[in-house]
Amino acid sequence: MASINVNGKDLTVSGEDDTPLLWVLRGELKLTGTKFGCGMALCGACTVHIDGEPVRSCVTPLSAVGARRVTTIEGLDGPQATAVRAAWDEADVVQCGYCQSGQVMAACALLVKTPQPTDADIDQAMAGNLCRCGTYPRIRAAIHLAAKKAAPPA
Ligand code: FES
Ligand code: FES
Repeated sequence: MASINVNGKDLTVSGEDDTPLLWVLRGELKLTGTKFGCGMALCGACTVHIDGEPVRSCVTPLSAVGARRVTTIEGLDGPQATAVRAAWDEADVVQCGYCQSGQVMAACALLVKTPQPTDADIDQAMAGNLCRCGTYPRIRAAIHLAAKKAAPPA
């Protein structure tokens, strides 16, 4: 048993200390927007935020979460999230969709830290999020678009 905060709610979950956070999110809490890909921190499909930082939930044991705030794609909000969702639609990013919640989590974390990222910033921040459909050019374009949408009016 452990207490964790997910999407703003304090919850008691039944996982062991070494249970991956991804298992708790998907299996116990039924937050299935976060995907299982490789299980080895190699693909980014399982990306969630812990205190705003993108982390791979497949290799994050429950005991490592502690009192920090977990945010999944279901609970993602704020101006960057709104801008990213709109930009993703406008740029028609999604193909099969499997990687996309991880991509959106990574993109939002980037834009919070770096509101006007360069191509290099985007490549660095998104490098660990793989897309078997090859949507990378549209992801990059959508992040630039989201940066514009989230920017305060001049
Ligand atoms: S499922 Fe976690 S990085 Fe691939
Ligand atoms: S959209 Fe299919 S894996 Fe990325």
